[in-house]
Amino acid sequence: MRFLITAGPTREPIDPVRYISNRSSGKMGYAIAEAALAEGHDVTLISGPVNLEAPHDANLISVSTSDEMFEAVHRHADQCNVCVLCAAVADYKPANVSSTKIKKRGANFSLELIPARDILDSLGHRQERQFVLVGFAAETDHLEENATKKLRAKNCDIIVANDVSGKNSGMESDVNEVTILFRDGEKKKISRAQKQIIARELVKIFSNFTTKMFDKKNVTIN
Ligand code: C5P
Repeated sequence: MRFLITAGPTREPIDPVRYISNRSSGKMGYAIAEAALAEGHDVTLISGPVNLEAPHDANLISVSTSDEMFEAVHRHADQCNVCVLCAAVADYKPANVSSTKIKKRGANFSLELIPARDILDSLGHRQERQFVLVGFAAETDHLEENATKKLRAKNCDIIVANDVSGKNSGMESDVNEVTILFRDGEKKKISRAQKQIIARELVKIFSNFTTKMFDKKNVTIN
């Protein structure tokens, strides 16, 4: 089976030396890539800037901005059977990027932000998509309710919800605890464990779901 996995943060430039980013380490996405490779799947890993070594057998595509990630994902999605969008892509980016370093002045300074392109949403609404689409939802409150809304709004097949309100799960951490929500309302929980262990479970769940969906449509995975 061919997996496309996005991981890590994006960087949205303000000027040549500054950017807006977030605390995503890329650990969850990289662990999913490793686990998929270990199961014998092909992996295209589209990664934002992270301090992790890429899995050897993955086809690694390094990007920096949300626009670069958008282009790379759309270029590769159709060749894949399952797209797992685990990256913490920026929701907003600066309206204008200064070509010179913005000088320090005494006065307040405000930055106008505009919405970044939503990659998950754009894939979900792509006409006649053939691949299974998995999104992630990092939430600090009303986890399942918000994740379910996202699943419907972005038209994906599966959402993996994780609570990032605690100190020791979710972003930057080595451990995680997730709830997997399916389109038909089915729900599975994976209790607190190392991201590698969670990743193995997730890959099994994604590949079983993909096989079933392709069987139903009478499509053979090659
Ligand atoms: O709506 P929210 O950003 O919380 O949704 C999270 C999901 O959407 C994640 O799967 C993330 O990878 C994806 N996302 C995206 N493009 C964005 C923002 C989020 O693909 N610009």
